Amino acid sequence: MGLRFIFMLTANDKTVEDAEIHLGTALAAGIHHIGFKDIGLSFERLKNLNSAIKSGGATSYLEVVSLDKKSEIISAKAAIEIGVDILMGGTNINEVLKLLKGTNIKYFPFPGKIVGYPSSLLGTVNEIVKSAKTLSLKKGVHGLDLLAYRSTCDVKTLINAVCECTEKPVIIAGSIDNRHRISNVKNSGAASFTIGSAALNGKYFSAEKNLDLQLKAIMKDVAEVNNHISKLYPKNLNHSFGEFEDIWSPRIAGQINDMQIKLVKVKGNFIWHYHKTEDELFFVHKGKLMMKFRDRDEIIKEGEFIIVPYGVEHCPVAITDVCEIVLLEPKTTINTGSIKNVRKV
Ligand code: NI
Repeated sequence: MGLRFIFMLTANDKTVEDAEIHLGTALAAGIHHIGFKDIGLSFERLKNLNSAIKSGGATSYLEVVSLDKKSEIISAKAAIEIGVDILMGGTNINEVLKLLKGTNIKYFPFPGKIVGYPSSLLGTVNEIVKSAKTLSLKKGVHGLDLLAYRSTCDVKTLINAVCECTEKPVIIAGSIDNRHRISNVKNSGAASFTIGSAALNGKYFSAEKNLDLQLKAIMKDVAEVNNHISKLYPKNLNHSFGEFEDIWSPRIAGQINDMQIKLVKVKGNFIWHYHKTEDELFFVHKGKLMMKFRDRDEIIKEGEFIIVPYGVEHCPVAITDVCEIVLLEPKTTINTGSIKNVRKV
């Protein structure tokens, strides 16, 4: 699993006024994890926001900001009534766990001591780890919400230590606003991170304030740190066939799992052979190919292909002077099959 991005419809620790509009932008950008906080909008609007997140196919998160026991219990009750998928934050764990019992809500409380607004995380790495360990052992706690960048500790050391002390997933929340921080979060073993303000205030991607571009820049960086960027580019068959002249000598042009795409130029007859276990596909790019079988001959024209199943004897013959063929076959395939022949490549 790669690092997961949770987009928060929040700035300065509260849900923003235009949350519904921003939600539309986020869903259209293909974001699947979207959260908000328990303050900023009316209960009715938060409830509708949650429904819109879920009907958009995303997982919903509510992060509790209130830290005194009474308001935290009110927030947890609201989370249940709103029907969020994941409840993040909060420090009054035992009371909240009692409320969540019997619901499907997953719970990620804050380890450590949280104070102030916007929240900061107090304590040394050891103290926070101790709290993280205790919390994560509790039944009903699905993971942790670590305000790493809101602490005074060395952030990498802190995230590393917290992730190492528990098997459960750790979300890094608060104050992530650049690629360097995302990369730190990934390398320290966290499961997810949140960004709200940086994207909504147009601070993540400096070139353009527009939210859509901010979110796309974040997703590109996440894809890069997760190694989810393709290094493959289109190939042109005319160009690739133009790069070599040898006959009956396949070139590997690409690989799909255990299958290889090979390009081969053929002229005249090959030899009769079969493959013990490999099926072969012959796609004719230029020219005309005859595939001789023991019971019949088949002509394959440009733009057509034929599959030769394993175990079937065959003998390819170019009918036109030179025929350009794309082969698709398992990488273990030897061109002459089970026959020992000088034409084996
Ligand atoms: Ni063959």
